[in-house]
Amino acid sequence: MGMSVVISEATDQDAEQIFKLQYLCFQSEAALYGNYRIDPLVQPLDAVRREVADDCVFVARLGDEVVGSVRGTVTEDGAAAIGKLCVHPRLQGHGIGARLLRAAESALVEQRGARKFRLHTGRRSESGLRLYRRVGYEKVGIEEGADGVPMVILEKQAGAYAQTA
Ligand SMILES: CC(C)(COP(=O)(O)OP(=O)(O)OC[C@H]1O[C@@H](n2cnc3c(N)ncnc32)[C@H](O)[C@@H]1OP(=O)(O)O)[C@@H](O)C(=O)NCCC(=O)NCCS
Repeated sequence: MGMSVVISEATDQDAEQIFKLQYLCFQSEAALYGNYRIDPLVQPLDAVRREVADDCVFVARLGDEVVGSVRGTVTEDGAAAIGKLCVHPRLQGHGIGARLLRAAESALVEQRGARKFRLHTGRRSESGLRLYRRVGYEKVGIEEGADGVPMVILEKQAGAYAQTA
């Protein structure tokens, strides 16, 4: 790949690039469900900025370009909700998604005391589901998202992360 991809915590300056990247990356998801109002496509820049300030947000960088992102936040029950994992279409299939997920998981445990991780993904999102299963997530339920998209809920114990890290 030439230059190497570096994973680090996002800063306020990254918010606009994350906003544009998620708009690009989730087009394929929108097409899959015939729904272009899914959250990553309609989330305002200000809301992305707030998440960067308050949540655990990581980016993958290739030089100055943000080519991947993920976020997570700890909920009331001690579970970390992880979401909006995305990698630029031209760089998918090189392990960047898995690296971002690992970075978010370990920060959520070390900085925020997460005891388990929870993810929501579309039921037809094969590439996401394969990745999550491979790194130890298990299906715990299904639900219909606010946007009408059928979702799978997946969880993994933080202990499972410590054992495999
Ligand atoms: C889901 C998504 C984040 C995955 O990102 P990614 O960087 O391609 O993920 P990885 O590279 O870690 O894994 C993808 C595949 O590449 C393979 N792979 C990983 N490293 C590899 C390497 N060095 N060489 C070859 N293949 C590799 C993985 O085995 C995996 O194969 P699989 O699809 O058969 O399971 C990305 O496809 C995306 O942005 N999709 C759109 C948004 C989305 O759906 N997000 C998830 C829902 S919340």
